[in-house]
Amino acid sequence: MPTVLITGAGRGIGLALVHAYAEDDWTVLAGIRDPAAAQRLMRIDGDVTPVTLDVADPASVMILAERLAGLPLDLLLNNAGLLGSRGTTIGETDFAAWQDVLTVNTLAPVRLVEAFLPHLRDGEGKIIATVSSRLGSIGSNDSGGNLIYRSSKAAVNAAMRSIARDLADEAFTVTLLHPGWVRTDMGGPQASVEPADSARGIKSVIDGLTPAMTGRFFNYDGAEIPW
Ligand SMILES: NC(=O)c1ccc[n+]([C@@H]2O[C@H](COP(=O)([O-])OP(=O)(O)OC[C@H]3O[C@@H](n4cnc5c(N)ncnc54)[C@H](OP(=O)(O)O)[C@@H]3O)[C@@H](O)[C@H]2O)c1
Repeated sequence: MPTVLITGAGRGIGLALVHAYAEDDWTVLAGIRDPAAAQRLMRIDGDVTPVTLDVADPASVMILAERLAGLPLDLLLNNAGLLGSRGTTIGETDFAAWQDVLTVNTLAPVRLVEAFLPHLRDGEGKIIATVSSRLGSIGSNDSGGNLIYRSSKAAVNAAMRSIARDLADEAFTVTLLHPGWVRTDMGGPQASVEPADSARGIKSVIDGLTPAMTGRFFNYDGAEIPW
């Protein structure tokens, strides 16, 4: 069975992704920071193993990569994310918060790719998927606001597009995904999409990817999103 490593797997979209992949008989390595989340994950039917992973901590990433040395990975699913302050006004930018958001949303997905590239090279799937956001689309930003979050997702889009080109000769498929406006702690109670529906959509888009589709940005329903 193929193996996926999912970051931020203890709640929200990440937890729903764990369910979606476990239901389809994948081996799931579920990255979590909070040990309490391990209890929730252990109750899921299927081959699910909680693994300690703070994506903002280079040592945590390195320790997990070394612990899993020799284990082939078919799919790396960068899902962990931070919103930062919502709707900041220009003149009131919280630069410290911006750095934290960049660390998790932008630097960490690239760090994960670098740390787990040997595992992914040994796997058959060779897929790197990152949960981005439509708010990272520069082309569709007509409303402004959320500059911290928007810039972190635009930057991860740019980084993954570049990695897609760099790994194209090795038949890797690198993709960016918008999960919809999802009812999670981040999306809030008004959001229109259930985590399970978002996760099923994301999985279906990933299932349909081929190396020829590398370096593109998709909505969870499969529609392409402009950069
Ligand atoms: N919800 C939406 O409407 C929406 C829309 C567009 C894009 N997204 C993106 O979708 C992804 C998941 O969002 P969500 O709605 O599920 O958010 P969420 O409910 O706030 O959950 C965030 C997840 O990220 C994890 N995380 C944060 N910092 C971490 C770190 N340093 N190391 C490891 N894990 C960390 C959290 O783990 P802890 O439990 O340990 O804090 C949690 O599992 C994010 O990338 C987000 O930007 C969401």
